[in-house]
Order: sequence, then structure tokens, then C-alpha cells
Amino acid sequence: MRRSVVRGTGHYLPERVVENSYFESMLDTTDEWIRSRTGIERRHFAAEGEFTSDLAIAAARQALERAGMVAEDLDAIVVATSTPDLTFPATATIVQAGLGMQRGFAYDIQAVCAGFVFALSNADGLIKSGQADRVLVIGAETFSRIMDWTDRGTCVLFGDGAGAVILEAVEGEGTSDDRGILATDLNSDGNLRELLYVDGGVSRTGTVGFLRMQGNLVFRHAVEKLAATAKRVLDKAGLTPGDIDWLVPHQANLRIIVGTAQKMQLPMDKVVLTVADHGNTSAASIPLALSVADTQGKFKPGDVVVTEAIGGGMSWGSVVLRW
Ligand code: ACO
Repeated sequence: MRRSVVRGTGHYLPERVVENSYFESMLDTTDEWIRSRTGIERRHFAAEGEFTSDLAIAAARQALERAGMVAEDLDAIVVATSTPDLTFPATATIVQAGLGMQRGFAYDIQAVCAGFVFALSNADGLIKSGQADRVLVIGAETFSRIMDWTDRGTCVLFGDGAGAVILEAVEGEGTSDDRGILATDLNSDGNLRELLYVDGGVSRTGTVGFLRMQGNLVFRHAVEKLAATAKRVLDKAGLTPGDIDWLVPHQANLRIIVGTAQKMQLPMDKVVLTVADHGNTSAASIPLALSVADTQGKFKPGDVVVTEAIGGGMSWGSVVLRW
């Protein structure tokens, strides 16, 4: 059975770091409120003229280097983003050209904060079906471009960044002892779309729009749905929460992460946390966290790693893989 094994990770964060205190001068908020309600302390914002594709290319270059590959070794690029450079072409094609890749195919996936989980699952499908042997999967966002800077309930939460993972086909036995992606679980419920959406778009308004969110309702759905999808993905792989070495959750809110880990009966020392320094970077948050933890040498070959995310749609899901 073909398995998708992680060969390299990479990430990029824009230079500009914005501390919580920055918002105190422009909004009725405090560093203490943001820290205690979200766990966020700072985030990065892209510079003027710095685009989602620029962040993605920087993350991809690091992943290629760590995998010991060059762009020509890749068959496909999948970019998860809700903040593309342009309406079209896909940001992935801009990344493809930026990396100097003359072959293969490239496209975007849009599942908001769950985008990277959907993209990983999709790339795994490309590999399992034999359409590709090596896939570069990127989550890249510039959410600072869709913030309403007068809305204290949203603009303090998000940041910009990109993370990348290279998957390669390897023959496995078809058991949970295999390395690579062992199972994926994807879900959407379009009836919940009003909880978290952008109020502009090509077809409806001809504008880009701003992010709108009913945070407390999103919060409630998040803990319940994330724990449920993590349980389902483990069941599919024939594993239990006790088998997990690392949980790499979507980094939206520390309270959501802690609540989900508690529901899964997972100690916090098995949870990768980057939310304090990155804020919520939507589809970039999981590959950023994966790459940061990889850089710190956290993952050992054979470790069971679970990722899970939820976002606008609502869409949510999880992936379990063996490092
Ligand atoms: N500073 C000070 N006060 C604030 C701020 C702020 N930045 N933002 C909201 N408040 C106020 C509200 O106006 C409200 O005041 P009121 O009682 O006078 O009306 C009060 O704080 C409580 O508001 P709630 O929304 O109930 O606060 P809550 O404890 O739920 O925290 C938060 C808000 C942090 C947004 C939380 O609901 C949350 O994190 N939800 C998840 C949202 C999320 O992470 N979305 C990202 C995309 S989806 C995902 O990634 C999971």
C-alpha cells in the first residue's frame, strides 16, 4: 500500500512582529484580555508588497532544503489558503513559477482554518492513487488583509505566515505500524457558515470583504467537533489516544486547544503550542507548528502525530500520521 511520508518541513514568518499592546492604542482592549481569553501574545504581519505567495515560497524553499530535494523533484504543489494573491490563477501556480519548477501541476484548496488538513488529505489521495510521487503541501495566509481594524472581537486574533510539508510515496504494509499518513477525516456543515465568514467576494460584492465571526459560538463548536474528529481518525487508523506522541492542533485559541486535549485525555506536554507567538494564521497554523516543532527536534521517527483543525464553513477534520 502506498503511504505518504513526510520528507521535510519548512516555515516562514514575516519580519514585522506585533505585540498585543499595539492594539491598546487603537481599540478598547488590553494585552491582559487578549492573553487570558486566547493565549495570544504576538503575531506577525506581512509587509506592504509582501504577498501570500512570497510567504509560501520562503516556507517551500526551507522544506525542499531540509528534504534534500529541488523543485524539479516535485510532481505537484497544493496550497491551502483563503487569502490568495489574486482571484486567479491559483497561488500554487505562482509558487510553482517562483520555485523555478517547469513541470507537474499546482492548485489551491480553500477550507479556511481547516485548509491544511484538507490539503494534506488531498495530497495523500494524489499519492495513494499514483497521480504523484512527491507533493509539496503548503498552508499560507495573509489574514491581516481581511481584518476590520475596528472590530476588537476579530482583529486581535489573526496573524500572517506560511508552513510547508513535502510528502513522498513509500510502500507500506497497510498497517498502523507504517510510516506516513495513516488516516484522514474531513467534515463540513454549510448550515453553520454564518458563524464565520468574509462579507465580500468576487461574485456577490466584487470586493474582498472583511472577516466576521460569532466567536463564542465558534468556540463551542470547535472543542466538541475537534475532539470528535480526532477520535474518528484514530479509530480509522486502529489507534487510541494513548498511542499519540504529539498533537499538533490548529492554533486559534489556547482555551480551545486545552479543552480539546482534555476531552481526548491527552496531557499538555504532548501538545505543540505556537499560538502565543503566531496568533491564528488560519491554514498556515498547522504546518507552521509542525515545522517549528520539527526544527526543535521534537518528532522522532515512528512517533504518532495527530493534527486537527476547524474553521469557516464550518469545515473541520484531522490527520493521523507516523513520523
Ligand atoms: N478586548 C476586550 N473585550 C473584548 C474583545 C477584545 N479584544 N473582544 C471581545 N470582547 C468583549 C465582547 O465585546 C464582549 O463584551 P460584552 O459582554 O460587553 O458584549 C465580551 O468581551 C465577551 O465576548 P465573547 O465573544 O463572549 O468572549 P469570549 O470569552 O467568547 O472570547 C473569543 C472571545 C476570544 C473570540 C473566543 O470566543 C474565541 O476564541 N472563539 C473562537 C474563535 C476563533 O478562534 N476563531 C478562529 C477561526 S475558527 C477557529 O480557528 C477555531
